[in-house]
Amino acid sequence: MNPRVIVALDCPDAKEALALAGRLDPALCRVKVGAELYTAAGPALVEKLQQSGFGVFLDLKFHDIPNTVTGACLAAADLGVWMINVHALGGRAMMEAARAALARKRAAPKLIAVTLLTSIGAADMGEMGLSGDPREAVSRLAHLAQACGLDGVVCSAQETPTLRRQLGNGFWLVTPGIRAEGAAGDDQKRVATPRQAIAGGADYLVIGRPITRAPDPLAALRAINAEIAG
Ligand code: C5P
Repeated sequence: MNPRVIVALDCPDAKEALALAGRLDPALCRVKVGAELYTAAGPALVEKLQQSGFGVFLDLKFHDIPNTVTGACLAAADLGVWMINVHALGGRAMMEAARAALARKRAAPKLIAVTLLTSIGAADMGEMGLSGDPREAVSRLAHLAQACGLDGVVCSAQETPTLRRQLGNGFWLVTPGIRAEGAAGDDQKRVATPRQAIAGGADYLVIGRPITRAPDPLAALRAINAEIAG
C-alpha cells in the first residue's frame, strides 16, 4: 500500500493536529508536518503520528551550511520519518553532504528538494541576483538536486509534465496546489485536480485544506483516492 496523498497538517499545535489525524486513515494517506507545527509540537508529535501508523513527511526545508544540514537530516532520520526536504538553493555541497550522510543510515528517509518557492516571482529573482525566469530556475535546481542524488523535488502541477520529461521516471515529483474540479482555490494561484496532477507525472500530492477543512476529512480523502485510482 503506497498512498499517493500526503495530507498537510497545517495546524498550530499538537492537539489540533492529533484530532485531525484521528479523523484520517494511515492506510489511505501520509501526513506532512511543517515548520509551524514542528516548532510548536516537536519530535513528540511526530512520534505520536508514527505510532498511529502514519508515514510522516517532515517539511522543514533545511537550508544551511553542509555540516549543519547534515546534522539536521541525521536527526530527522533518527525520528524515523518517511521523507524530509532541503532547499536546492543550499547548493551542491550541501545536498551531496546530506545525501552521503543519509546513505550511511540503515533506514534513511527519502530526501527531496524544494527548488524555487512558488512565492518567488521574476522580480524577486532579479532582486536576489538570480538569473532567468522562475521556470528556468526550477528546472535548473531540479536537475541539480537529481545530480546530487536526491530522491525528488517539490514542484507545482504546472511544472510537473516538463520536469517529468526532463528528469525521467524514478525521480519523485511531489506536488501541492491540488483542488477538486470547480473547488475554491483558497490562496493557491495555479491549481490542478488530483487526476490532472497524477496524469502530468506527479508521484505524490500534498493536499491541505480540501481535506483538512472538509466536513468529513476521511470522506474527502477517499474521494480523492478514488479519483486518482480511476
Ligand atoms: O491547503 P493547501 O492544499 O493549499 O495546502 C498545501 C500545502 O502544501 C501547504 O502545507 C503548503 O505550505 C504546501 N506547499 C504549497 N506550495 C508549495 C510548496 C508547499 O502549497 N510550493
